Amino acid sequence: MSVKRIGVLTSGGDAPGMNAAVRAVVRTCLYHNIECYGIRRGWNGLITGDVVKMDESKIAHTINRGGTILYTARSEEFMTEAGQRKAVSTCKFLGLDSIVAIGGDGTFRGARALSKYGINVIGIPGTIDNDISCTNYCIGFDTAANTAIECIDRLRDTMQSHERCSVVEVMGRNAGYLAMYVGLAVGATAILVPEKPIDFEQDVIEKIRQARFRGFTHYMIVVAEGAGKATEIADKIHEAIDMEPRVTVLGHIQRGGSPTGRDRVNATKMGYLAVELLLAGKNNRIVCTHDGGFTDVDIDEGLSMKKGIQQMEVDVLTAMTGLIDK
Ligand code: F6P
Repeated sequence: MSVKRIGVLTSGGDAPGMNAAVRAVVRTCLYHNIECYGIRRGWNGLITGDVVKMDESKIAHTINRGGTILYTARSEEFMTEAGQRKAVSTCKFLGLDSIVAIGGDGTFRGARALSKYGINVIGIPGTIDNDISCTNYCIGFDTAANTAIECIDRLRDTMQSHERCSVVEVMGRNAGYLAMYVGLAVGATAILVPEKPIDFEQDVIEKIRQARFRGFTHYMIVVAEGAGKATEIADKIHEAIDMEPRVTVLGHIQRGGSPTGRDRVNATKMGYLAVELLLAGKNNRIVCTHDGGFTDVDIDEGLSMKKGIQQMEVDVLTAMTGLIDK
């Protein structure tokens, strides 16, 4: 299978480090004398032919930029057969034989659909949610986590001064990886994630009571958006104890900002590997990373995998937010 012209796109929610991945794809193409086209606005760009020829100037000064220079979208049309056929026509018209798609599960389902029409596809995991099962790391997670940690550290200052309780809602869609990581990093009083069943009295109220009993005067409750709404949790705390928690929904702040070194380097390696995989004749694969090593997995296999929060993380969470009998 010969690779002559590669298209690269970003799809789904943006994530810091996507630009570094696009840059790596373009640079690796240039290195191998392969033409590269940027497809704008995710799969929609492939339907409408919204493309730009990539060269060094297009990716200059992008490794440190958050967001995605290619724009992104969640395309409903591409999920239909008619939309996919239009995208295939664009590929044929432009001579694109291969596509590198950077995004999450939805992006990979789109890539898999395209590969059924004979286009070579490689997926790169990019989402702050870190919820792609076949890889233990997704581009953007590190930056988003550090942004949230910095915000909560600031919040802690004012909560401490006023001796208050704070309920902070962290993104993650249906997954709690981001909230769990952030909660541990800020030393939260309680961390609520969708992967762990919640006993409100035990997991929140009792933890605040215990902390108060031990002399703490401010309390930080971190909740994954998939585990509940911060406003409702604050109301329930107010009903149960004489406290008026302040609510902070970090929201899209977590998705912006210059990527951390870890995100830049992982994105660069993944972008490089995606092109190398295509050149090696591989198709319908997702680039993954485990324990510092990089590998690839079949998209169907990758999409059918499940990942949960590891038992050790649950144990650490329990120990870090639990009662210390003295
Ligand atoms: O998947 C990334 C993510 O930021 C989720 O954490 C969040 O639930 C969702 O996207 C928000 O989507 P939107 O940008 O459409 O509001």
